Amino acid sequence: MTNAASGQTVYLETFGCQMNVLDSELVLGELRAAGYTPVDAADEADLVLINTCSVRQRAEEKVHSRLGELNRCKQQRPDMMIGVIGCMAERDAEGIRQRAPHVDVLCGPGELGSLLALIDQARSGDRPAVAVTRDWSRREPAARRARDDGLEALDRSRRPDRAGSPAQAYIRVQRGCDKFCSYCVVPFVRGPERSRPPDHVVEEARRLADAGVVEITLLGQSINSYAYEMGDRVVRLPDLLVQVHDVPGIRRLRFVTSFPGDFDASILRAMRDLPNVCEYLHLPAQSGSDRILSAMRRDHTVDHYNALVDQARRIVPGITLAGDFIVGFSGETEADHQASCELIRRTRYKNIFVFKYSPRPGTVADRNLPDDVPMDVKRRRNHELLAIQAEIAAAHNQTMIGQRVEVLVEGYSKAAVKARQPGRPASDRSDWRSEHQFVGRTGGDQIVVFDGDADLIGRLVTVEIASATDLTLHGRAYETS
Ligand code: SAH
Ligand code: SF4
Ligand code: F3S
Repeated sequence: MTNAASGQTVYLETFGCQMNVLDSELVLGELRAAGYTPVDAADEADLVLINTCSVRQRAEEKVHSRLGELNRCKQQRPDMMIGVIGCMAERDAEGIRQRAPHVDVLCGPGELGSLLALIDQARSGDRPAVAVTRDWSRREPAARRARDDGLEALDRSRRPDRAGSPAQAYIRVQRGCDKFCSYCVVPFVRGPERSRPPDHVVEEARRLADAGVVEITLLGQSINSYAYEMGDRVVRLPDLLVQVHDVPGIRRLRFVTSFPGDFDASILRAMRDLPNVCEYLHLPAQSGSDRILSAMRRDHTVDHYNALVDQARRIVPGITLAGDFIVGFSGETEADHQASCELIRRTRYKNIFVFKYSPRPGTVADRNLPDDVPMDVKRRRNHELLAIQAEIAAAHNQTMIGQRVEVLVEGYSKAAVKARQPGRPASDRSDWRSEHQFVGRTGGDQIVVFDGDADLIGRLVTVEIASATDLTLHGRAYETS
């Protein structure tokens, strides 16, 4: 690798899901190794990269307005290079070129292994430098696909830093998606489902654990379909969980996101039997109406989903569940919406994410179904689902008062970050309190806020819960391990 970039600075901003957060970490690692120094503000950087998301129209609009701001920066400093990477570069490289001719580099998520070469190409004047995948092959069976595509090298290049590593890390175990839910752009921008070799995943976990990571979250768009063919054997998610679970130093192991359509009980049994696998499942339903689920091509029915939830609670009694819902999908009637309300009441999630349906170019739903629910109705339904969930969570969290929970301390709470801003006098008692407030999560992914000391960050602490709202538990720490 050349050190042509020595002395250059880079600023990287990330939109979208955990996959993008991980991609950004890997890209930044590569750029560091090539001589770039990361900085915290775009207007100080020689190279500005935006890692983008295409899942909803709004996510793309945010990027366009950010590119508008960066254009003004670039007019002041014409040497500044701007790169758009990730899902939106893959979906709409041409649209970005037209609307934002000041962009120098466009690189889809399947091409990130060649990002450094693209940057060099643009720097030498051949701009914009563009790499997108476009025609992904899905001919081979998923378990046998692309053992060593270009991206495997990028994942393997990860260099956890002993001094600077936080306590938590993501590991990709699966790329792409083959489910083709009718509304979703992900299979088009991330390509076919490919599972990473289990030994690569375990080796990455070992290196992260050596650098001080104690909590690992395995990532995949439909992670329960993880399958890797080795000789006459297929390694599946429960086998992989066992292997990563056995890595010394890993105290917590999570995996997201599960696809209800092909979820099987062996995963729940692994969760029950492996003490460090967190009792938490992200199991998006998207709707509580069979009619809508079928139009979404979701591969599960409401009965199937309910049976799965019951089975999860039976096999893993303390399990917490998170879900995603889309409101205002094509043809969604008030009765369909009420069915989603009912599913939320029945499932008693820990939390849900609710999205207003946004038609995505190229998807089956966009081609064949009208976007016929008005925006104000989508908005109201969105609020209604969240209000039901807030009531459920508030009631559940009240039952946590007096309980002791184990919390992995992530850092200062939002109030503390604000109170600690430079220039604010630490005057009264309430300021002192908020300055020493920390936030962390339970194994079940509940957010806990408590007073403590900075040396607790990255450690597991026992907290006794004293009060609760629908989103947060508040408590007192009294034991660390
Ligand atoms: N693979 C994951 C997550 C995919 S994207 C899964 O299947 O659950 C994250 C969430 O965005 C989805 O769960 C869905 O609720 C939402 N989403 C995806 N496409 C959307 C669209 N076109 N409009 C609105 N929400 C969408
Ligand atoms: Fe999109 Fe469905 Fe794949 Fe999730 S499972 S990424 S919603 S196509
Ligand atoms: Fe968005 Fe791409 Fe993730 S479209 S949700 S960043 S996979």
